[in-house]
Amino acid sequence: MSITQETRQTRSGAERAVSAVWAEGLVKTFGTHRAVDGIDLDVRPGEVFGVLGPNGAGKTTTMRMLATLLKIDAGRAEIFGVDVATNPHVIRQLVGVTGQYASVDENLTARENLWLFGRLQGIGSGEAKGIATDLLGRFGLEEAANKPISQFSGGMRRRLDLAASLITRPPLIFLDEPTTGLDPRTRGQMWDTIRGLVADGCTVLLTTQYLDEADQLADRIAVIDHGVKVAEGTPDELKTTVGDSALQVVLAVPGETREASDIVRRVLGVEPVLSPEQGRLTAPLSQADLAADVLIALRTAGVSVASVSVDKPSLDEVFLALTGHETDEKNDNTEETR
Ligand SMILES: Nc1ncnc2c1ncn2[C@@H]1O[C@H](COP(=O)(O)OP(=O)(O)OP(=O)(O)O)[C@@H](O)[C@H]1O
Ligand SMILES: [Mg+2]
Repeated sequence: MSITQETRQTRSGAERAVSAVWAEGLVKTFGTHRAVDGIDLDVRPGEVFGVLGPNGAGKTTTMRMLATLLKIDAGRAEIFGVDVATNPHVIRQLVGVTGQYASVDENLTARENLWLFGRLQGIGSGEAKGIATDLLGRFGLEEAANKPISQFSGGMRRRLDLAASLITRPPLIFLDEPTTGLDPRTRGQMWDTIRGLVADGCTVLLTTQYLDEADQLADRIAVIDHGVKVAEGTPDELKTTVGDSALQVVLAVPGETREASDIVRRVLGVEPVLSPEQGRLTAPLSQADLAADVLIALRTAGVSVASVSVDKPSLDEVFLALTGHETDEKNDNTEETR
């Protein structure tokens, strides 16, 4: 589908270009719990937009509302200018959603599954066969094409799942945590696959718990926490809120955490995050070489260090900087049945 440069009127009467995804004040309540509590989104055509947040933040719920799989309780959403609540059948033509594929027969081969999926979408048999072959090739699944998917690894399943969501060539793809649980190599392959989709002109909305994934793939990121958007920007903008890297120091004597914390605060001018039981401190670094200044100050004060590392900031550090609390308050496993 070609992306038009239509414009539409906003409530205030101003003109805006038609977005791939546009949402205002989205709300979803389960019982008394507001899982999504007034989220606004504006995803531009052709970009990869990342929704980043910890377990239970409301990522899947937001995506499911946008994909017409859950009713929107309040607020409004449009996909390429089409209202989601009033035109669900049109939205389903515009959006490919991963995660729905598992219901297709495990005993069929990958090729048969893709063909069947195409047929279910109303595509003729010959065309569905061609599309299946093309997708199996694109996703590096030729060799496994004739195996039943019950024999597939997690990474192969993910790729087949994504392939299935592309059968109707939708212009917008929703990927819900596409690499969670994959090994690093398979993760890298999935990232390449996603980049390929974008190069072909797709718009991608992706959820992730990993800052590095959002960093690698997303043009812009919304960070959500407890159903609320707490920040939005490019990966670089978000990272500057926490510095380019994070220092982690483990002390030889955990009882010296307080003293070490004062030193880190003095040298870096920021509040370190403490895990006193482990004698561990982490702190954002605006420049990686400031780590040396911290180590020198610790040695001068006679505080011994057991180990030290400087890493890229993780989601935890971004979160802490944005919200003042850590991501792992509660890990309520919210995997839904499909
Ligand atoms: N069908 C449901 N019924 C009741 N509560 C739900 C349902 N689906 C989600 N929730 C709750 O809504 C909140 C948001 O869940 P959601 O699945 O959207 O989070 P998430 O950000 O996708 O998390 P994860 O990273 O674990 O996938 C959670 O507190 C969850 O328990
Ligand atoms: Mg989820």
